[in-house]
Amino acid sequence: MLLENKNGIIFGVANKRSIAWATAQACLEAGANLAFSYQNERLRENVEALTSGTGSPLVQCDVSNPEEVEAAFKTVGEKFGRLDFLVHSLAFAPREALEGEYVATSREAFLTALDVSAYSLAELARAAAPLMTEGGSVVSMTYYGAEKVVANYNVMGVAKAALEASTRYLAADLGKQNIRVNAVSAGPLNTLAARGVGNMNVMLRHHAERAPLRRNVEAREVGNAALFLLSPLSSGITGEVLHVDCGFNIMAF
Ligand SMILES: NC(=O)c1ccc[n+]([C@@H]2O[C@H](COP(=O)([O-])OP(=O)(O)OC[C@H]3O[C@@H](n4cnc5c(N)ncnc54)[C@H](O)[C@@H]3O)[C@@H](O)[C@H]2O)c1
Repeated sequence: MLLENKNGIIFGVANKRSIAWATAQACLEAGANLAFSYQNERLRENVEALTSGTGSPLVQCDVSNPEEVEAAFKTVGEKFGRLDFLVHSLAFAPREALEGEYVATSREAFLTALDVSAYSLAELARAAAPLMTEGGSVVSMTYYGAEKVVANYNVMGVAKAALEASTRYLAADLGKQNIRVNAVSAGPLNTLAARGVGNMNVMLRHHAERAPLRRNVEAREVGNAALFLLSPLSSGITGEVLHVDCGFNIMAF
């Protein structure tokens, strides 16, 4: 019961395959009280169905809309009083920017990808911090494409590099409030968002062949690592990117 009496909000559940949902399950089993934020009306039913029976409050929040962000944290403040952790498990880039060459990325696609996938971490951390009156932990999800070139990942790799740098800057800013900020770099998983990246099946096959563990990671393994970073077990860790990828990132060739 690592998260007993802890209150958290999870951003990014779209369906049962979402990394956010695997993380939520790990947190619920660890005794946490959770609130869930869903992007829009279209996803509400899915999130309602998954979370029914948990008694968790649900809030709608498109992170590109500052009013919705403000309203979401107002609701969470009213429901929970104190917030202990936040999971940022969301990203978006226009589909046409996730295939072909990065050099062709439009300004519009670049700004959208960076806004939704990277700036939102700073925005959500800023909104959550006043509620984290006894310290807190923020965890986001990133991918190896931030560090090395991954075919088709393109502008999302650039957005994840910004997300990882933001993790360090936010950790430096919020550490004095005992708020820790870390990221999990997950191996490829067949989720809704991943299906937007061209040739995802090739990526999954290559990863399973090359990774030291000779397989792909499971969503729950990512969720369990996030649980560790959200829990007091990781109290001395902040500003880190933890790879949960069956070891893929350590291999040269
Ligand atoms: N699936 C993978 O292979 C993989 C690997 C490493 C990292 N990640 C990261 O994990 C996170 C979760 O993705 P996933 O793979 O679980 O896919 P997913 O499609 O289940 O989740 C993506 C979520 O982002 C949300 N989202 C998109 N735009 C938003 C906006 N404007 N406002 C609020 N929410 C918005 C969607 O509603 C959805 O819930 C993302 O950051 C993704 O980049 C995924």
